[in-house]
Amino acid sequence: MSTAFDTTASKSEVYQPSREILESVQASDYLELREEALQDPLSFWDRQAKELLDWYEPYQQIFDDSNRPFFKWFTGGKINVVHNALDRHVKSWRKNKLALIWEAEDGEQRTYSYFKLWKEVNRFANILKSMGVKKGDTVTIYMGRVPEMPIAMLATAKIGAIHSVVYGGFSEQALADRIDDAKSKVVVTCDGSWLRGKTVNLKDIVDEAIARSPVVQRVIVLKRTGQEVNMVPDRDFWWHELAALPIAGPYCETEPMDAEDPMFILYTSGTTGKPKGLMHSCGGYLVHIAATLKYAFDTREDDRWWCAADPGWITGHSYIVYAPLILGLTSFMYEGAPGYPYPDRWWQQVEKYGITLLYTAPTAIRGLMRFGDAWPARHDLSSLRILGTVGEPINPEAWRWYNVNIGKERCPIIDTWWQTETGGFMITPTPIIPLKPGSATLPFAGVEADVVREDGSSCNPDEDGYLVIKHPVPGMARTIWGDPDRFVQTYWSDFEKQGWYFSGDSARKDEDNYFWIIGRMDDVIKVSGYRLGTAEVESALVSHHAVAEAACIGVPDELRGNVIRAYCILTAGVSGSESLEDELKAHVRHEVGPIAVPASIEFVDSLPKTRSGKIMRRLLKAKVLGQPVGDTSTLEA
Ligand code: WT7
Repeated sequence: MSTAFDTTASKSEVYQPSREILESVQASDYLELREEALQDPLSFWDRQAKELLDWYEPYQQIFDDSNRPFFKWFTGGKINVVHNALDRHVKSWRKNKLALIWEAEDGEQRTYSYFKLWKEVNRFANILKSMGVKKGDTVTIYMGRVPEMPIAMLATAKIGAIHSVVYGGFSEQALADRIDDAKSKVVVTCDGSWLRGKTVNLKDIVDEAIARSPVVQRVIVLKRTGQEVNMVPDRDFWWHELAALPIAGPYCETEPMDAEDPMFILYTSGTTGKPKGLMHSCGGYLVHIAATLKYAFDTREDDRWWCAADPGWITGHSYIVYAPLILGLTSFMYEGAPGYPYPDRWWQQVEKYGITLLYTAPTAIRGLMRFGDAWPARHDLSSLRILGTVGEPINPEAWRWYNVNIGKERCPIIDTWWQTETGGFMITPTPIIPLKPGSATLPFAGVEADVVREDGSSCNPDEDGYLVIKHPVPGMARTIWGDPDRFVQTYWSDFEKQGWYFSGDSARKDEDNYFWIIGRMDDVIKVSGYRLGTAEVESALVSHHAVAEAACIGVPDELRGNVIRAYCILTAGVSGSESLEDELKAHVRHEVGPIAVPASIEFVDSLPKTRSGKIMRRLLKAKVLGQPVGDTSTLEA
């Protein structure tokens, strides 16, 4: 159990869709569709692929499982995301429709029509080419939440290169590891980014990371904060200077890609310290994200969509950048933090831009809820039609607050369970599904999910078990970059006999077959919805000279879901103090990033270990939570 909240308490609390919703929703036949898809998932995905996307060349086969678990989808098909997200819209009436509205932290506002975005992407694609980037090369993108970030992503995809976006909240070591693993010769960054009125020194961090990972040959730097940065001659180039050169021509051909070519890598945390680069494909991924967004949020031509995540996470890749553009929607993106500089910033933006669909994380909702009901009450939120949540289980209290104070009890709340690995929503309601606060409800059409015991048998209602996916879905990652064995080992070995994917989550299903996610079963901690591996934080701690050994656990927290508690054995001769605790926190911030900083550090003489030397974090956690310690038969004497 990794959350601070009892998500089962509200099981009898059911919210039926209103008549207004039932009468207006486009896919009112979703339940029949879902039933059909359960019988024949391939036809469902085939239809989505044909209806939602344009292919340069049609695929010959929908699904190929000849090399399990390296499944393929839409083989033989030729496609490019940018053709679907921009090129085709520019040739249609959508040319002058707004694709993106952006607001800076200081209130500056920018808008991009599809035509304008297309032009910027063409230009930057030419710039990347001039830097020597070719089809199949990787480009690391490390930026703040500015429009140039999606522009850089789209430009990379346009020329058939592979982007690896590293969230701008990560620091030196985390960035260096990711650049190194992806072997990116080109990095795109900003001088700095704005966060709560202060600047984050992105370029300095890049410089330090490159010192640790010397594969980088070129750095393109967007001027955002105007702060002083060090530009290395022949290596570092200003974005705006390159854009003024003839090389940055206004047109660049979009590269037709095989459906199974890699489209991007995105790193996420796992059990070991080495981050996993999940590789997503050019074909199946697009089908999955476009279909899920369309049905789950009942999207329409005149919607204003706000996915309040960062493009640096999978949520942003799929549902800020790619799916909304494929569907031709207008998106809103905000540079800053929620509640900055005042607690109604978000609600003011909903009103100002007429947001119709809002998708965010429980931790953000809890954070804004803290300020009280008066802040949203000041604003006209009547444009909102549907709300969404993602990242961790939502506690019923936050759910109800969101429902009453933001949705005014008229907006369905779409609780979407999915992962970096799955590419798009896996378990989610659509607006016609009755809701239970804290439950992600039912698997999406074409997704076969279950909760099972260790032997693979299905759990009884309300019995905790492993959350598995029984049939592959087009958007699921194809491999771990450079480490196919780890891909097989991590996701496909627990239920190898059955050929199922194991998510790493525990869950239960209730008597209505609704899914209730409990939390991670592995050494992954969700802090404010961010995913962190205990090993990453531990290796940052032991990289400090004062620390000999470290163990981290997640401890429930009302606001952030979980916080990290660290236990450190100090090197001989060093003694623990408050100032050392502060120094270690600063060290973790510098190495991994602010999100990884432990809430508390305890100095200890020993750590519970198995006889084979593995730290038993489970025991540390049971002690903190005052729970029974369970089976300790493998504990070292
Ligand atoms: C883990 C994946 C997928 C986008 C953001 C997170 C947890 C995610 C929910 C939800 C309960 C959720 C799971 C999952 N999670 N969505 N709606 N209800 N838990 O992606 O960083 O790869 O994390 O987030 O534990 O395994 P991610």
